[in-house]
Amino acid sequence: MTVNNEKDLMALLEIGRICGLTLKLMLDHVEPGITTLELDQIGEEFLNKQGAKSAPRVTYNYPGGTCISINNVAAHGIPGDYKIQPGDLVNVDVSAEKNGYFADCAASMGVEPLTDQARKLLETTKAAHEAGLRAAKAGAPINAIGRAMEDIARKGGFSVIKELPGHGVGKGLHEPPSIPGYFDRRFGQKLREGQVITIEPFLSTGIGHIKEESDGWTLRTVDNKLAAQFEHTIIVTRDQPLMITKVD
Ligand code: CO
Ligand code: CO
Repeated sequence: MTVNNEKDLMALLEIGRICGLTLKLMLDHVEPGITTLELDQIGEEFLNKQGAKSAPRVTYNYPGGTCISINNVAAHGIPGDYKIQPGDLVNVDVSAEKNGYFADCAASMGVEPLTDQARKLLETTKAAHEAGLRAAKAGAPINAIGRAMEDIARKGGFSVIKELPGHGVGKGLHEPPSIPGYFDRRFGQKLREGQVITIEPFLSTGIGHIKEESDGWTLRTVDNKLAAQFEHTIIVTRDQPLMITKVD
């Protein structure tokens, strides 16, 4: 969507903040021994208390409140009885709806002790996210975002998972356009002021492709290598974007 008025802006800021706070609350509870279902329940209860609803649940009938993806699962990990362990890479993705407006954010974190490779993957994915955010300006082509993110990934020795792009968001969870995480020449259309999109690079230590598990949700890397992702929902401006899911 594109922000057209004060009502749009206020509603987006509200759901953006709720998603950001939920993500932070869940990351604060990540520790060895907690199950991904317990973590999910902490998040969804908080969402509901704020008058918000899990976006994947209301949009796709997803069997969880949030997505929690561990190690070689890049995205859409279903919360369950898996107990988080030392050394795990944990990705939490929170998207929610309130009053007809949607926001979407995510982060990966490690549970110590981490391997050097896992630590470098996290740092590089974060750097790619920041580069993508800097490239997201009104008037710039959409593929400037992927170009900036892929450049950082490559320099770090990692791949971008091509099947998982950013997207428009706001009146629905997934709206056009797609925002590839890598440079794609076909995506030359210009970003517009007020446009609401996600910036969400997925990086991997392997070849950067995923496959869906038989549960119909879990997206695991084909080579079982690690994956990490960071995501914010932003409103595009002529200068730096407004990161509506950023809290603190
Ligand atoms: Co997300
Ligand atoms: Co998203």
